[in-house]
Amino acid sequence: MKIGVLGSGKGSNFQAIIDAVNNGELDGVEIAVVISDIKDAYILQRARQNDIRAFYIDASPYKTKLDGEAEKKYIKCLQENGVDLVVLAGFMRMVKSSILQAFPRKIINIHPALLPAFPGLDSWRRAVEYGVKVSGCTVHFVDEGMDTGPIIAQAVVTLDDNDTPESLHKRIQEKEHKILPYAISIIKDGRIKFDGRRTVISR
Ligand code: GRF
Repeated sequence: MKIGVLGSGKGSNFQAIIDAVNNGELDGVEIAVVISDIKDAYILQRARQNDIRAFYIDASPYKTKLDGEAEKKYIKCLQENGVDLVVLAGFMRMVKSSILQAFPRKIINIHPALLPAFPGLDSWRRAVEYGVKVSGCTVHFVDEGMDTGPIIAQAVVTLDDNDTPESLHKRIQEKEHKILPYAISIIKDGRIKFDGRRTVISR
């Protein structure tokens, strides 16, 4: 299974995927390409350091979505690299209909909260400010909504009284680095079925 990773930031989740491929946890998975909408994003450097094809593709004129001509360029690049599954690993834009149609139920996202709580940006900060006692992270299929697609996996993080947004995010990320490779592995093994919007995962 060939995956294409889209990211805008430091790429620690991408690194977790690289590690899982290298240690055999993602046997049979090839990271075919990495694309970023940020020219100097560290995720691109990580890819190049690991001899993985990496491209910066400008996504203007929009700031928070991938749409129009830019979307076409992303789809072309993913298809030219034979991608079967698209992984959004810190990609800071909402993807739109053409890419969803090009990769139906083949786009997943990692989100730093227990959805449906705290969709959108800065979830870990809002979780601390709200005063929740548990938060965590979610891997889900991407649909037209904002972090609304069918959930594949979640992990829980318990908050301490003295947590800051940064300390919570750090612990959430440790969990992200486990559940994202896990989600990719069960997709690769064909273990996911749908029951409406629920995913059913076989052993
Ligand atoms: C993660 O916290 C992820 O949940 C969110 O963006 C962050 C990306 O971090 N969507 P990294 O670039 O993988 O380190």
